[in-house]
Amino acid sequence: MRSRAMRELDRTLRTIAPKDVGVALIGESGTGKEVLARRVHDLSLRRAGPFVPINCAAVPEALFESELFGHEKGAFTGATERLHGKIEAANGGTLFLDEIGEMPLSMQAKLLRFLENRKFMRVGGTVKISVDARLIVATLRPLDQEVRAGRFRADLYYRIQGITLSVPPLRERSADLSLLVEQFAQELAARHGVKPARMTRAAAEMLRSHDWPGNVRELRNVMELLAVLRDDRKVRVQDLPAAVRAAARGEDARTAESETLEISLTDPLERSVERIYDTALRLERGNRSRVAHRLGVSIRTVQRHFATRTRAR
Ligand SMILES: Nc1ncnc2c1ncn2[C@@H]1O[C@H](COP(=O)(O)OP(=O)(O)O)[C@@H](O)[C@H]1O
Ligand SMILES: [Mg+2]
Repeated sequence: MRSRAMRELDRTLRTIAPKDVGVALIGESGTGKEVLARRVHDLSLRRAGPFVPINCAAVPEALFESELFGHEKGAFTGATERLHGKIEAANGGTLFLDEIGEMPLSMQAKLLRFLENRKFMRVGGTVKISVDARLIVATLRPLDQEVRAGRFRADLYYRIQGITLSVPPLRERSADLSLLVEQFAQELAARHGVKPARMTRAAAEMLRSHDWPGNVRELRNVMELLAVLRDDRKVRVQDLPAAVRAAARGEDARTAESETLEISLTDPLERSVERIYDTALRLERGNRSRVAHRLGVSIRTVQRHFATRTRAR
């Protein structure tokens, strides 16, 4: 990755991966937390062992215990076979608990018990099984916040904290965007047997102005659509999915709207002048010399205007 944030993150990952410490990844959905967890595993001394992911948000509460710890045959109605749980499967490798903040409180207690002595019993079982696995967890929201809200056990939080790393959203990593576009274009073209997508300047610009709420996952999906649906021409703005275009359109509309200002002739002139200055100041994000430039007056005029208003209040 090109962005400074991701390069620093990678440097940290390389340092900690070979040390057997727990890792907590915090970041929005689709930012690449699972990709990074796998990278830690692949750079660790456990790389020959299994990497076992569980998405805690996707497992219904009733099935959680079996999923994690497994069960013995006949442990409950429907348990017709012995099942090995994910914890057991991760022995010698890495257990990745994605969206751990979504784990039911009852399961949090059981997970904590396992982490304290690294032993567990299958549901309905009578023997303790020892497991040696590195734990990596991921969450959308900082867990200390979840602890304060009463949704996450404080004792488990301290146990799993390990080294905490934040993964920034794609909209804050514009340097990575073009690299990922190129990478996905190549990869998906190969997969679908087409030529790599090339963008018109306007389409590339629109990808840059989108704010990517679904992060890298959303970008990958867009690139996949383009690989599947497009003919051999360059990708134009109208070839992009509506969600990408709509967001950009909304932005344009908002700017245009705030640039037109209705002035009423019944308002005192002073009031209208104030509104012009306020709007310009907002559009220029508080930069007075750009306000001066936009309104075609000198910077001193702008400064005098705001100074007079402050004194008048
Ligand atoms: N640095 C990256 N390079 C290539 N693909 C990535 C990268 N980061 C994320 N992805 C892709 O984006 C999607 C979401 O990544 P994932 O790790 O599951 O995100 P998260 O766990 O944060 O929701 C996956 O398809 C993944 O392959
Ligand atoms: Mg994920």
